[in-house]
Amino acid sequence: MLEIVDKTHDESRQGEAVAPQAGDTRVYTKKFYIESYGCQMNFNDSEIVASILNKEGFGATRNAEEADLVLLNTCSIREKAEQTVRKRLTEFKKTKKNRPGFLVGVLGCMAERLKAQFLEQEKLVDLVVGPDAYRTLPALIEEAETGQKAINVLLSREETYADISPVRLNSNGVTAFVSIMRGCNNMCAFCVVPFTRGRERSRDQYSIIAEATDLFENGYREVTLLGQNVDSYYFVDEQKDETVTFAGLLEKVAAISPLLRIRFSTSHPKDITDDVLFAMARHENICNYIHLPVQSGSTRILQLMNRTYTREWYMKKVDRIREILPDCGLSTDIITGFCTETEEDHQDTLAVMEYAHYDLAYMFAYSERPGTLAARRYQDDVPEEVKKRRLAEVVALHRRHTLESMQQDVGKTFSVLIEGVSKRSEDDLFGRNDQNKVVVFPKGNHQKGTYVKVKIEACTAGTLLGKVVD
Ligand code: 5AD
Ligand code: SF4
Repeated sequence: MLEIVDKTHDESRQGEAVAPQAGDTRVYTKKFYIESYGCQMNFNDSEIVASILNKEGFGATRNAEEADLVLLNTCSIREKAEQTVRKRLTEFKKTKKNRPGFLVGVLGCMAERLKAQFLEQEKLVDLVVGPDAYRTLPALIEEAETGQKAINVLLSREETYADISPVRLNSNGVTAFVSIMRGCNNMCAFCVVPFTRGRERSRDQYSIIAEATDLFENGYREVTLLGQNVDSYYFVDEQKDETVTFAGLLEKVAAISPLLRIRFSTSHPKDITDDVLFAMARHENICNYIHLPVQSGSTRILQLMNRTYTREWYMKKVDRIREILPDCGLSTDIITGFCTETEEDHQDTLAVMEYAHYDLAYMFAYSERPGTLAARRYQDDVPEEVKKRRLAEVVALHRRHTLESMQQDVGKTFSVLIEGVSKRSEDDLFGRNDQNKVVVFPKGNHQKGTYVKVKIEACTAGTLLGKVVD
């Protein structure tokens, strides 16, 4: 699913506030402040919300204290994510008391999961808006301004916000997200997403290509195509009698310019096809990097999870990726301590990790979510300390793998798209290679948004260090 990242659930971005868009000279009469939690899709949704609010005369601010409207775009994927949001909400209590007219809104998955209950539980919340209802925000804000509580949590089978140009918030001007589909039909037993984000639907290809082209023309050099399950992208153009699959869409976006890099997330192992792998092989600008969540290495657990593949099937998929794309970066999501997981199942997970040798992994202890298949059917019977110990073992193995994967790159030369100045030193720039690894190198006269060839001389656990070569 999408809750990824290579930037998915990127801890460093959780709760990030948005900055006003650079170069925006419009005059706004009111100010909004928005914080996003969870997956990349949520961060991209906040950019859609910003676009809708800008049209209503609300400008973005980074300072919640000066905002008329504070919005938290929330995540329900694990209980901890929800706790973080509840805690954050309490911090607005004082402002709410002191400033009449100050509105607090909750958007996203928690809004959808808890609906009107949220308004009862959290008295300071004025607005509750689900992921498919952002177009109604202006009317809801108007309602809330009269002192009423406003709510819209209707899910849609069609909404893709295809016609709304996201306002690029906190942008580096080089990389951007483009949503290509919404929702998920998979029903993995542990996952709340099908309930909070609704049925799967694909955005029309023309609006995707137009958005990516526009980004390129505005200096962006990398787009990440987003969806809970990108490989089941499916668009039927009845007028042209054309059916576009994800592989087809990748080809079309890749054709915009060889200078535009394309990434995508997330791939369900059951849906990624050879066609997608061949499209990646054919186009140098489609990055060789796949986020392929395994979740567990035990066939029995995978069945309970309703993942619809076995461990052998997953390993064959890894083989196929390596066959068609020998230098492809691979990342994953892993859950430890799912219902009934035994030590043997856990060892199976460690063995699959050894097999796939992931470059990056997002690892979680199982957290039961109300309403999911697992919550209804199975007992959450693995003790917390066992879940945590298994998680620690998975994390330790992963650390060894990432370090080995970084070390193997020392001596190699990569094409790196420059994203900006390194956090550690003003004298260095950073960017990513095809496989999504961060590369840091001395600045020289190089500019953000351009490609350089960097020879890797050393590495840390998370960064490749090198020098630009001709
Ligand atoms: N408990 C723990 N981890 C979960 N994920 C999804 N639901 C749960 C849950 N209930 C993980 C999966 C998914 C990632 C985004 O979050 O690994 O791929
Ligand atoms: Fe991802 Fe499965 Fe959840 Fe869908 S149901 S969002 S595929 S984990």
